[in-house]
Amino acid sequence: MGAALIDGKAFAKDLRDKVGEFAANFEQRSGRKVGLAVVLVGEDPASQVYVRSKGKATVAAGMNSYEHRLDDTASEEELLSLVEQLNQDPKVDGILVQLPLPKHLDEQKVISTIDPDKDVDGFHIINAGRLSVGQEGFVPCTPLGCLMLIKDQLGDDLSGKDAVVIGRSNIVGKPMAQLLTDANATVTIAHSRTKDLEATVKRADIVVAAVGRPEMIKGDWIKPGATVIDVGINRVPGKEEGKTKLVGDVDFDSASDVAGAITPVPGGVGPMTIAVLLRNTLVSAYRREN
Ligand code: GUN
Repeated sequence: MGAALIDGKAFAKDLRDKVGEFAANFEQRSGRKVGLAVVLVGEDPASQVYVRSKGKATVAAGMNSYEHRLDDTASEEELLSLVEQLNQDPKVDGILVQLPLPKHLDEQKVISTIDPDKDVDGFHIINAGRLSVGQEGFVPCTPLGCLMLIKDQLGDDLSGKDAVVIGRSNIVGKPMAQLLTDANATVTIAHSRTKDLEATVKRADIVVAAVGRPEMIKGDWIKPGATVIDVGINRVPGKEEGKTKLVGDVDFDSASDVAGAITPVPGGVGPMTIAVLLRNTLVSAYRREN
């Protein structure tokens, strides 16, 4: 292992602590706590874990957490009317509808119903549009967290750096490419139809992997000294029978011999997502105050 380990867990804790200080300051000035509403529809086990962690982190940062749970048979009207009620509620600064939703509910329609100025996930098309034209809005939490880790390594100005983003999702790949472009990097978006992924990755000073394929990016694809950010969280069989473990999209053992700096999985990008969510919620509260 020659690479420096990028400690996302520690970075996220610092960020949560800072957000907590500002949230206390907000409360003193305005006489109310910052508030985040999270909506969970159904019983998806992974979503339940995420929602519980978000709630705990929100309260630990001195904010109010409003959790709304709907049955997995809830109608679209029921969900949309809850979102509209949260849009109107002055105590609510941020609204997050946990995805995925049960199949009978139209995710796009639900996200489009959230007030863009409370859309702390940054999933509303208005916020995607704002990001693409450089207007103030909300940026999705995971790519913004990745950008913070990258800038912490390389500085705020990525002029002259070649970056490759592997994955083109609306939630990670596309906003990530936009953020890196805005920071002056020269960006390539690679995906499942890219002809020579290995050669593309090999040119990059910054690699962001968000494909959801366990340990797909190998060490000998990585340019020596590159900064490697692994967004993947894949559960695979562990060494012991019946046990599983989490791995990223990057083959950590081989890549960490070549990279200059690399995020581990777990403990890299994962903890940043919730920390940035709290940051976005705080920013929303300050904007709404003005
Ligand atoms: N499901 C998994 N991650 C996320 C997230 O960041 N936001 C929402 N709304 N749903 C998710």
